[in-house]
Amino acid sequence: MDYKKFIEEQIAHIRQTVGKAKAINALSGGVDSSLVTVLGHRALGDQLRTVFVDNALMREGEPQRVAKTFADMDIPVELVDARQEFLSALAGLTDPEEKRQAITDAFYSKVFSRLVKESGAAFLLHGTILTDIEETVAGIKRQHNILTQLGIDTEAAYGYSVIEPLKTLRKDDVRQVAKLLDLPAEISQRIPFPGPALATRIVGEVTLEKLETVRTATTIVEAELADSGAFQYFAVLLSDRATGIRNNKRQFGRIIVLRCIESTDARTATVTPLSWEKLNSISQRITQINGVNRCLYDLTPKPPATIEYI
Ligand code: XMP
Repeated sequence: MDYKKFIEEQIAHIRQTVGKAKAINALSGGVDSSLVTVLGHRALGDQLRTVFVDNALMREGEPQRVAKTFADMDIPVELVDARQEFLSALAGLTDPEEKRQAITDAFYSKVFSRLVKESGAAFLLHGTILTDIEETVAGIKRQHNILTQLGIDTEAAYGYSVIEPLKTLRKDDVRQVAKLLDLPAEISQRIPFPGPALATRIVGEVTLEKLETVRTATTIVEAELADSGAFQYFAVLLSDRATGIRNNKRQFGRIIVLRCIESTDARTATVTPLSWEKLNSISQRITQINGVNRCLYDLTPKPPATIEYI
């Protein structure tokens, strides 16, 4: 693939489609939405408003870190606090697809449609990539950002048209293009993080307490495996509990699963053969988290498992 040509074509396409109108995009800090943000700003400059929606499901310090990275590239990013709206939408839900749907609805129907109305934007720039489309259309998993491919008329449903500049790219292409556009390595090389964020790493209902647990575990896993070279690594909080001992007392505690996988495009994955020493050190740190007394290593490739747990 000629990445330079791709960049030129997409910038021209965005410019031509948007014309003199206004556009908006939501940045999550992942490589897909970061690349769309840079392409969009090259094409549209001030006509594009970029927002970072804090949905309460982000990793530690993420909103501030992302805003700073883009400020350093002279791209202004607005932080929008929508934590309560997302937590209310997720309350009581345990089914994976219902959780995904609730996040999609909270995002597009509530928070985003409000922002679009406020800013008078006629276009939304979206970081959908080819794998998202394929898996959703094949009925494997409803990716949060798939709308038009499922026959959803965004104009009628939400009041704006969607532009998807990355829809012909796979993850490895996205990273190459990001590098070519001088995005910092912390973004172009960043491990994938799903749109529904930490909600995909909590089996069962999402609550503030569980979010805090899985967020702390995520920080530990990301720090421990930063040099692993693996495709993706993260912590998952199960809905089950297990008996353990804490301060010489019985504790019916939480269970964290460690997942670390090798892949090129997330369509298939194998498990990283981490050293026993590394596994032990992660397990020791994870089980120091308040209320957690077990840490398991997931040995399942994709297929039959998927990478995430919901
Ligand atoms: P699965 O779990 O489907 O994950 O094997 C494949 C890759 O996609 C990421 N993922 C998502 N990304 N929205 C996203 O933007 C989603 O709803 C979503 N679900 C999974 C996952 O982290 C993995 O890299």
